[in-house]
Amino acid sequence: MLTGKKIVLAVTGSIAAYKSCELLRLLIKRGAEVRVIMTEAAQRFVTPLTFEALGAQTVYTGDWDQHQSAIPHIDATKDASLLLVAPATANILAKAAQGMADDILSAAILAARCPVAYAPAMNTYMWHNQATQRNVTQLTQDGALFLGPASGEQACGDIGSGRMLEPEEILEALKGAFSPRLLDRCRVLITAGPTYEPIDPVRGITNRSSGKQGYAIAKAAALAGAEVTLVSGPTNLKTPAGVRRIDVTTAQEMYDTVMREVSQHEIFISVAAVADWRVANSSEHKLKKEFSGAPEIIFEENPDILASVAALENAPYCVGFAAETDNLIDNARAKLYRKHVPLIVANLVSDAMNQDTNTVVFVERDAATPLTKATKEHVAQELIAKIAQEVN
Ligand code: PMT
Repeated sequence: MLTGKKIVLAVTGSIAAYKSCELLRLLIKRGAEVRVIMTEAAQRFVTPLTFEALGAQTVYTGDWDQHQSAIPHIDATKDASLLLVAPATANILAKAAQGMADDILSAAILAARCPVAYAPAMNTYMWHNQATQRNVTQLTQDGALFLGPASGEQACGDIGSGRMLEPEEILEALKGAFSPRLLDRCRVLITAGPTYEPIDPVRGITNRSSGKQGYAIAKAAALAGAEVTLVSGPTNLKTPAGVRRIDVTTAQEMYDTVMREVSQHEIFISVAAVADWRVANSSEHKLKKEFSGAPEIIFEENPDILASVAALENAPYCVGFAAETDNLIDNARAKLYRKHVPLIVANLVSDAMNQDTNTVVFVERDAATPLTKATKEHVAQELIAKIAQEVN
């Protein structure tokens, strides 16, 4: 993804500047050519020599005399693929939002013809301040990409959002800057993971879905420019960057959440392994074997979320999944007709559930297209490309 890309890494005055050294190293390791711009304040935390020693092609500082060119702020980004400001302080966000050009970096941002991405780093109260949020909104409207910030303990001891993403996380988030925007601003609703149906307060019925396939699809959709809402059953997975996640436990909660959210979305992808039945006689108290022996469990059917969404008057474009143990295509196509959806992604339980890879077939009314075994991330990208083709 980064091979041959010309990236300008701009460093501003934050304690997180030390992480930019590692970021530079990782960018170069992934094949990028990197130039560095440092503000004066950044040079109080790390030196230009550090970046030179780590392999930066050029390090631009505010010292105009030092540069061979009279226009370093223009040369720096001339043929660049991306200008990445990391760390980005509240000060540089304010200057960039106003179009100021009173130092080498703000001038370079103003002159940049390439995309600009910011990895903010500041105290949490500074981040949440209305002025900063106004600047972020302005820059986003102007087309800038924001990577983070992360939440957690800060150098000053405060806790909250404002921490710069870790270098590896920035690289991951950067994929968005270089991915084709196949679903630009399209609103996509995705369900993922298992559901959990309680028998009593300590026991329940669930399945082996890890959520990996659904989360990979949420990530691929976000990288393709979509606004993604992920309705997730219980999993241990991290929310992909830029994805809005709503946690649910039971199939009924998943149904209620999806039906509340769906009208705001143009695409619905139902990846969750939803329990078909719930326990009708679940107990409020822990069942005791001493008193009641083996419990008699009575099941009642859960609502079918995918079929309900597909039946709506203004239904979004719906994609279902089918996890089967046999007769993969026939069973998947039967679901396609029963639930009235144009596309079912069919996979065998043994290939898919709780695995890192998947082998899927795109089943439509009159076609079945098998994909070769691949990582769930790759399957997700193929699915997003397929959906983009269908909806556009
Ligand atoms: O989570 P992973 O470990 O990564 O595994 C991925 C997966 C195997 C869970 C995923 O690839 C998958 O196949 N998901 C669908 C699993 C399933 O149980 O499908 P189904 O045949 O029961 O249901 C068919 C479709 O209807 C699915 O889109 C399902 O989300 C939907 N459904 C089912 C029942 C119900 N009450 N409501 C629904 O919306």
